[in-house]
Amino acid sequence: MAILVTGGTGKTGTRLAQLLLAAGHSVYVTTRSVGKVQSPLKGVKFDWLDSSTKDAPFKAAAANNEQIEAVYLVGPPIADMASVLNPFIDLAIEKGVTRFVLLSASQVTKGQPPMGVVQEYLDTLKVDYCTLRPSWFHENFLVPHNFRPLVNEDQIVSAAEDGRIPWISSDDIADAAFNALTSEQIEERDLLVVGPELLTYEQIAAMFTEVLGRKISFKRVSQEGMSQHLLQHEFHPGVTEMLSALDLIVATGGEEAIYKLESKYVGKRTLLDFIRANKEAWIR
Ligand SMILES: NC(=O)c1ccc[n+]([C@@H]2O[C@H](COP(=O)([O-])OP(=O)(O)OC[C@H]3O[C@@H](n4cnc5c(N)ncnc54)[C@H](OP(=O)(O)O)[C@@H]3O)[C@@H](O)[C@H]2O)c1
Repeated sequence: MAILVTGGTGKTGTRLAQLLLAAGHSVYVTTRSVGKVQSPLKGVKFDWLDSSTKDAPFKAAAANNEQIEAVYLVGPPIADMASVLNPFIDLAIEKGVTRFVLLSASQVTKGQPPMGVVQEYLDTLKVDYCTLRPSWFHENFLVPHNFRPLVNEDQIVSAAEDGRIPWISSDDIADAAFNALTSEQIEERDLLVVGPELLTYEQIAAMFTEVLGRKISFKRVSQEGMSQHLLQHEFHPGVTEMLSALDLIVATGGEEAIYKLESKYVGKRTLLDFIRANKEAWIR
């Protein structure tokens, strides 16, 4: 089957694309920089914010006499994600796509911007779909807002106070996405995806201290302080408020409540194993 992975150069997309390839599927991967995509993956130049690229994946498949049947949707980091994803979904259906798997987030429910609005739209269509709602990714510790303070200042910065998060591996999310894209039937249209354990930032700082062999501290900041921190580390101004507000949800037990729900997909990989496996990245 031909499957399209949008965000295919990102944390979950790269892993999902490899799983699909290994299972024998023809895999199209969208990116703004096709040089990032290695054969036998089929890279397609595509930008959510440039509508002239909207039909590029379907043209690429047609040129290979293939038809894309399923799509993994990772939207761009903008507040009005539905304004670009919904028209793309319409086009994909017109081109023969029958199944969508949307990457959303644990705290974003159906109808809520940004991804929940897309989920609500999928709900109105006669297609198979699944919304994956993962918790915080392990791989966030390799991106600038966590990576730089860890390496340069021996600290992790957050407004989440002593709130606990069920950190999830992108490999586990990719496993869940693979199942949703390829299983005969989608069992759960709204699937929470959490890691195996709840952790505070103090506990995470202690793990880094143990693995790296130098003291790593948790720097507690206000929501405003967190917004400023994200702004300084490559986040779009339009989303920093929303992301720092998530820390307050964590602080008041929002992610702990998600973890305690019965119906969810629980990943196997632990954050401690992730830190051990990537130890070299944070060595100065
Ligand atoms: N990180 C977390 O902890 C977390 C937790 C829950 C949910 N989520 C959700 O997961 C999704 C992915 O977030 P992430 O931060 O982990 O990012 P990511 O998947 O690591 O990277 C973003 C991907 O999107 C692509 N992309 C970005 N802007 C694009 C554009 N304008 N047009 C086309 N492609 C574009 C990038 O491709 P190119 O750069 O190659 O074009 C890249 O493949 C987001 O919707 C986020 O809300 C994240």
